[in-house]
Amino acid sequence: MCGIVGYKGKKDACGILIEALKRLEYRGYDSAGIAVWHEGKVEVARKKGKVDELRKVIADGSFTGKMGLAHTRWATHGTPSEHNAHPHKAGDVVVVHNGIIENYIELKERLRKEGHKFLSDTDTEVIPHLIASYLKKGMDFVDAVRSALKELKGSYALGIIRETDKMLIAARKESPLIIGVGAGEYFIASDAPAIINRTKRFIFLEDDDIAIFADGTVRLIDLEGKTVKREIHQVQWSDAMAEKGGFKHFMLKEIFEQPRAISDTLIGRVKEERGEVAFEELKLPDLAKVKKIWMVACGTSYHACMIGKYLFESVLHIPVETDIASEFRYREPILKKDDMLVLVSQSGETADTIAAMKEGKKRGVYTLSICNVLGSTLARDADGVIFTHAGPEIGVASTKAFTTQISVLFLLMLHIGERLGKLNKQDISRYINEIKQIPHKVQSILDMSGQIEEMARRYMVHRDFLYLGRGINYPAVLEGALKLKEISYIHAEAYAAGEMKHGPIALIDENMPVVFVSPHDHTYKKTCSNVEEVISRRGRVLIFTDDPLHEMADRVETFFVLPQTIYALQPILSVVPLQLLAYYIANFLGTDVDQPRNLAKSVTVE
Ligand code: F6R
Repeated sequence: MCGIVGYKGKKDACGILIEALKRLEYRGYDSAGIAVWHEGKVEVARKKGKVDELRKVIADGSFTGKMGLAHTRWATHGTPSEHNAHPHKAGDVVVVHNGIIENYIELKERLRKEGHKFLSDTDTEVIPHLIASYLKKGMDFVDAVRSALKELKGSYALGIIRETDKMLIAARKESPLIIGVGAGEYFIASDAPAIINRTKRFIFLEDDDIAIFADGTVRLIDLEGKTVKREIHQVQWSDAMAEKGGFKHFMLKEIFEQPRAISDTLIGRVKEERGEVAFEELKLPDLAKVKKIWMVACGTSYHACMIGKYLFESVLHIPVETDIASEFRYREPILKKDDMLVLVSQSGETADTIAAMKEGKKRGVYTLSICNVLGSTLARDADGVIFTHAGPEIGVASTKAFTTQISVLFLLMLHIGERLGKLNKQDISRYINEIKQIPHKVQSILDMSGQIEEMARRYMVHRDFLYLGRGINYPAVLEGALKLKEISYIHAEAYAAGEMKHGPIALIDENMPVVFVSPHDHTYKKTCSNVEEVISRRGRVLIFTDDPLHEMADRVETFFVLPQTIYALQPILSVVPLQLLAYYIANFLGTDVDQPRNLAKSVTVE
């Protein structure tokens, strides 16, 4: 995710803005930019790379002024480059933006017809143009901004200035933005750490709020221009707490970001009314010829591939072979020319997954990467790419990247299903309707995190755990066990529940917690029998289910009810409490949750 900062006060804006950007560097970004207002002129500088590069560009002292905006960009639309970096300018309007504008293509076309010229590949650039077009029609600055915001679909946190006005305007919808209140000065920031050294008094903007900074005060209005009131909060956060948005660890913050990360991944791609899923600029091969899809990755991303297999095979009946990237090219996979190879990776830099892509290319198959990092090797070098819009993932243990990978695989399945005529528009609308409810359902699980924390307190003393699930939830339990072992160093194994009697059952005694994911689907009865088998060996059973009337509910020690969804989307919901369980256990044990021993965020060696 990108970072926004802004300043209006009596001091030199440039120094304050650069310092604030530096304080956001830990989040990762690929370019940076600044705009400073001075007596009817706005100087803009942008640079690919680090804030220090930007600092060099403005070192000549020409950026003096007491009002300004700055931005670090983490690319979502358009490559990391100077011309795509923020701020974007149209006429005399200058904008920095976080979020994704869903309808930017339609707006761009309309504005082009009005004579506007676009210089970047971003969704953001339509915003200053839209405001400029309203200003041209004679509106004042505030009304022009309000009118433009009403037209935007998607999410935004915005900082806006113009040359011929001394006003700074900020606005938010579904993307965080706070106001820092200083002594005779105001700051805006997407994240508290940017400005926590300057003030601890914050106004937390809410959706559709517009803040107008003028004449030494701030006024808040809604999209209709009506005044809104928000309190000033005094926070006691240290720098480290602020970085994590008040959460103790990045991992917990990232678990809680999942509703937004999934929504952002859907934005602009799902057209429910049209029964369509579209991926911008994705050119797939002739799908009618594709007889088999390969899905290859490592670790958590490999678990997403396994879910992809269940999705494609159960809904589209297209054969999918999954492979661990480090095995793929050493086992002479029988790749045929018309097969398709899907590589899944949060970082886009995992050496084994890159090697698998190269192998695929060498064999002449179409390669498609699903990545979270724009400009990464897999994103650049695969024949096609679809981005997860999870935002930077800092905790080593992958969480929001995983649920957004599943979301992308689900959308890809719908897209391919439609193109092959295997799904009609009504089917797709129905599926879209289901996935659109997922962020809200994930939120309802997060709202019960207290229950999971209590669970963690009860089970943290154990040194071995078993995780069991069937069907599409089998990869979800693999992922749950991986989370526990990597951050708590507790031994955890996961099996397809049906495999239990073929060996792991020997481990079960009164010291073995056994975690079941057991929804009321076609696997329900069989899993109930497995639960029975564990109980009769005195294993300590935890059940996660979407069925409040689960027949084993009263017979097990721990029972947690998940929201219901369709089979294809169950793993997104069932993995969230498993992420939380792992997190809370590790936290109680006092391990280094964000940087567990021996692990690296990006594994760039084979
Ligand atoms: C586990 C985890 C790893 C990664 C794996 C692949 O929490 O994060 O297992 O999933 O190293 O990394 P990417 O997805 O970057 O290719």
